[in-house]
Amino acid sequence: MEWIPDDDNVRKRIRAMCDRVERIQADGVYFYNMPVTDLQGGSRVVVNGRTMGMFASYSYLGLIGHPRINRAAQAAIERYGTGTHGVRTLAGSLALHHELEATIARFKGADDAVTFTSGYATNLTTVSTLVGRHDAVFSDKLNHASIVDGCLLSGARFVRFRHNDMEDLEQRLAETNKHTARLVVCDAVFSMDGDIIDLPRLVEVCRRHHAWLMIDEAHSLGVLGATGRGIEEHFGMPDAIDIKMGTLSKTIPSVGGYIAGRSDLVKYLRHQSRAYIFSAALPPAQAAAALEGFRVIEDEPWRVQAVQRNAKHFIESVRGRGLDTLQTRTAIVPVLCGTDERAFQMTAEAHRQDIFVLPVVSPAVPEGMARLRATVTAAHTPEEIDRATEVFAQAGRQAGVI
Ligand SMILES: Cc1ncc(COP(=O)(O)O)c(C=O)c1O
Repeated sequence: MEWIPDDDNVRKRIRAMCDRVERIQADGVYFYNMPVTDLQGGSRVVVNGRTMGMFASYSYLGLIGHPRINRAAQAAIERYGTGTHGVRTLAGSLALHHELEATIARFKGADDAVTFTSGYATNLTTVSTLVGRHDAVFSDKLNHASIVDGCLLSGARFVRFRHNDMEDLEQRLAETNKHTARLVVCDAVFSMDGDIIDLPRLVEVCRRHHAWLMIDEAHSLGVLGATGRGIEEHFGMPDAIDIKMGTLSKTIPSVGGYIAGRSDLVKYLRHQSRAYIFSAALPPAQAAAALEGFRVIEDEPWRVQAVQRNAKHFIESVRGRGLDTLQTRTAIVPVLCGTDERAFQMTAEAHRQDIFVLPVVSPAVPEGMARLRATVTAAHTPEEIDRATEVFAQAGRQAGVI
């Protein structure tokens, strides 16, 4: 690369990031990309040879390693091998994909569903397929990066409204020419804060302004609603959402994403979205694991009750020790630390005491709002939760947070 000058912007950007990472590594507070070498039940993992309580997992129902799901993935490999014959539209579709999509549609109370190879790709492709240059897309300020990227890629007028503020959304919709097609996109549960979108008011505002509504259920599938069907079940509003998006990489222990909705919408995405047409299909093992994941949720309803009970216990226990958890009511529990340094210090102490949790610092969250982003799952016992919260409190006291 000697031919690239030192003041080249790409070179400068690479150097700046590497410098930041290396500084944090030199300070001994780099906690990212740590390889897990073993699972020990649903709530513990082995990292660097140490068994640690897992408080950073997205496996909200504790389904990673579930014997039925593992067996389904193995059987799919025996039957179909490890890959597909290419993109879905050409030779890549398996009966398994269709079965998975029919199951998702039924689970979500929709006519049909379509799957993609990641949740990220699902948001990117769906938003950018539905809206374009002459349209407008409205996105909550705390939406996930994949939604933001989809909005930017679409070329539509990109309007961001204040977090979970329906008056602000309404005002911004009212300012838009009413002949413009409008799409409103929100997370159901916000991935850094754990709070829930105000769906009843959101639906009212969207309907009043003839806007399509897309909701990302990455962190609500399996977590919200009496049977884990998500935010519509939570609010008792069946079929309130036009475009029901979810991932297959969190509660569902696989990889991929889906859109469920009316059959014409799904047919359109199958024939128009670039991530479907120009990217290979979900591998058989992952499609089979996802399919079995939905069946296990239905067959083992105690898991949904357990994650909801554990979330309540965890939040009350962390708050009871004087730590700030913002507005969370779900399995994502931010433990506010303040500065990035305090977040690193608290993480180091938690790891020293064998609690695996990760810090989220700026620019992922606003400066001064650095936090431990803790998660709780159906697999934790009350004793494990109590121990973790005691460790967080000790770490908080050491770091001067409480
Ligand atoms: C709200 C939200 N949407 C989408 C995604 C992307 O999903 P995936 O990791 O399955 O690509 C994530 C991932 O963290 C997320 O938190």
